[in-house]
Amino acid sequence: MHSLKYLILGLSGIFVLFAGFGSAAELKPRIVCYYGSWSNAMKDIPVEKCTHIYYSFLLLNETTWRYRFAGDEISERRKMAEFLNLRQNSTDAKFLLAIGGAAEGSAKYSNLAEFKERRTIFIESVVELLTEFKFDGVDVDWEFPGVFWEGAGQLGGGRPIDKRNLALFVEELRKAFDQLERPLEITMAVGVLESFITAGYDVPRLCSTLDAVHVMTYALRGSWDGVAEIHSLMYPRPTDVGEYRRYNTEGGSLLFSEYGCPKHKLIVGVAFFGHSFVLWNELNNKPGDLIDQEATIHLPGGGYMTYSEICQTINEGNWTRVFDAVVQGPYATKGDLWVGYDDVESIGVKIDWLKNHSFGGAMTWAIEEDDHKGLCGPKSPLITTMYDRLKDYVVVAP
Ligand SMILES: *[C@@H]1O[C@H](CO)[C@@H](O)[C@H](O)[C@H]1NC(C)=O
Ligand SMILES: *[C@@H]1O[C@H](CO)[C@@H](O)[C@H](O)[C@H]1NC(C)=O
Ligand SMILES: *[C@@H]1O[C@H](CO)[C@@H](O)[C@H](O)[C@H]1NC(C)=O
Ligand SMILES: *[C@@H]1O[C@H](CO)[C@@H](O)[C@H](O)[C@H]1NC(C)=O
Repeated sequence: MHSLKYLILGLSGIFVLFAGFGSAAELKPRIVCYYGSWSNAMKDIPVEKCTHIYYSFLLLNETTWRYRFAGDEISERRKMAEFLNLRQNSTDAKFLLAIGGAAEGSAKYSNLAEFKERRTIFIESVVELLTEFKFDGVDVDWEFPGVFWEGAGQLGGGRPIDKRNLALFVEELRKAFDQLERPLEITMAVGVLESFITAGYDVPRLCSTLDAVHVMTYALRGSWDGVAEIHSLMYPRPTDVGEYRRYNTEGGSLLFSEYGCPKHKLIVGVAFFGHSFVLWNELNNKPGDLIDQEATIHLPGGGYMTYSEICQTINEGNWTRVFDAVVQGPYATKGDLWVGYDDVESIGVKIDWLKNHSFGGAMTWAIEEDDHKGLCGPKSPLITTMYDRLKDYVVVAP
């Protein structure tokens, strides 16, 4: 009896001790799932394995400076309602709305963010929509602020003033949200090339306002490089030079921390898709070997493959899968075709790594691309790996 009493006293003492420091909090890790609204796989998504699910994307009308829907209004509203109905499958998950995306490019958001009147109109219109549908917040997915490099195509339509204007936009969004009855979250998806970070993100200022930052540590390599490589590589390859040395999952995540974002707010990206290539010579099929760029660009989807397509292609077509020990990621090849991607093994490594480094959780583009039907083995293997490896992890926020 006594010992139990002392035990209880002792435990509460520990609790008081922690509370006494006043600052450290223990949080559940985030498991962030982007959902592409053009997909028709909504019913298959195991929402209970995600803590945050983002309907992607809401777009911008450059005439009115209000939001606009990606599709026609009636079907888009119907899909949003259906999406929010998924709440009945998970009482814990938050359902949010992502704004922007790669297809929108950078220039129009640069023009939006430049003037306070435009920002105010846009923010008011977004608040209307969030309130109507009872979304739990937004993700700002401007690709990419401050980047005005022609080689980046439409992603390079930004200007140097974007860095300041993006910070203002996020702060004004927060002020608008603070006036609502329900607390709403603001998160941001960010690029991780160091020159993109310095060009577009006032990292300490953004991270003090945002609930979380989703580091897009995928699509880091592609046909533009002229060689076959795993686009979501965990670690650098010894042949990487210049900025590419840190243009990988490890480098990109740590860079944001070095630029002043608290680690518990940084959510590390993993890919539920691959980038495929046509090799120049099928006998040279290792990472770093030359590709035929012209043929690669003409692959279906420009070489973008979902994990579900990749695993079926490997199984049915007898492709050879290799796990690259250096960058800790898989690729598969057959004849002159080659694909680099993430699977259960590489995602396991990434989750272990982010736990070892005290990051806030993991994010994926995109939840619908997993093998939810179990065509290659157990159902939903990738999101299940994320969930299983994160469920007992505790994030410490200093
Ligand atoms: C979500 O819930 C609905 C209704 O309860 C159910 O029909 C559906 O199968 C559930 N979806 C998943 C992926 O569990
Ligand atoms: C933007 O809004 C205006 C006015 O409502 C409309 O005429 C125009 O079609 C919209 N633009 C796009 C791209 O949806
Ligand atoms: C894959 O290999 C099996 C067994 O060797 C063979 O029967 C099948 O035809 C092969 N499939 C393809 C698409 O090459
Ligand atoms: C994580 O830390 C454990 C224990 O120190 C170590 O064995 C493991 O290799 C680390 N994994 C990664 C991916 O960093």
